[in-house]
Amino acid sequence: MSRRTLIAGNWKMNLDRMSAIALAEAIAREAPAEDVDVAVFPPFVYMEAVRGVLERTPIAYGGQNMYFASSGAYTGEISGPMLIDMGARYVILGHSERRHIFGESSQLVGKKVAAAFEHGLVPVLCVGETIEQRRDGATQQVVFEQLGAGVAELSSDQVARMVIAYEPVWAIGTGETATPEQAQEVHADLRTWLTDRYNADIAGRVRIQYGGSVKPSNAAELLAQPDIDGALVGGASLEAESFLAIIAAGKA
Ligand code: 13P
Repeated sequence: MSRRTLIAGNWKMNLDRMSAIALAEAIAREAPAEDVDVAVFPPFVYMEAVRGVLERTPIAYGGQNMYFASSGAYTGEISGPMLIDMGARYVILGHSERRHIFGESSQLVGKKVAAAFEHGLVPVLCVGETIEQRRDGATQQVVFEQLGAGVAELSSDQVARMVIAYEPVWAIGTGETATPEQAQEVHADLRTWLTDRYNADIAGRVRIQYGGSVKPSNAAELLAQPDIDGALVGGASLEAESFLAIIAAGKA
């Protein structure tokens, strides 16, 4: 089963308007269009500016979060229809920073994932264990719970079209990357869970990205693993040179 590699940059709460535009321009100019999908996730307030640069290019963009309701009295929130209105294709949901800093439960994330599909967005569902959970041998249990709740309201056809990002919390922003073997093991576990729950065809179509200190120096060996179908890059996506190098590794 061949899955198209997806290299995505999660800009988190970084950059300013001019640097976001400059970064989007450099990616649009230099990223190869064939063989690899590329997406960026700017802060909401810069999405309009990024849209101006990427609109007629093969580079996709999306939101770093959204609320499940379509509209209403939800001060500070952004809805799926708003992201669609801005030309977004993807939305990151259940990022560990949302779960751990902002207290999002797996059930809330599941409602958001279902709402994303309802509005025509492709959700990137993030799962991952903390270092304590890994030391306790609870990695599988944690990621299966997050995945199970994340897909609870989806049809099998939607599951096949979603993106999962395995992001071990201990590897995010720490410079400490999971080894290719550690990452592959969890990716294979997630795919086995999907096979058992749905079937091998659906499990084989789901793209599972790895995230957590992905850099030009480690991208190629991570992406060479059979069940790693892309990267969700934080820090190294904030500079064109390093992000483009990771895209090049994804193309290889
Ligand atoms: P870093 O690449 O900075 O570790 O961040 C990973 C991440 O959280 C992407 O969503």
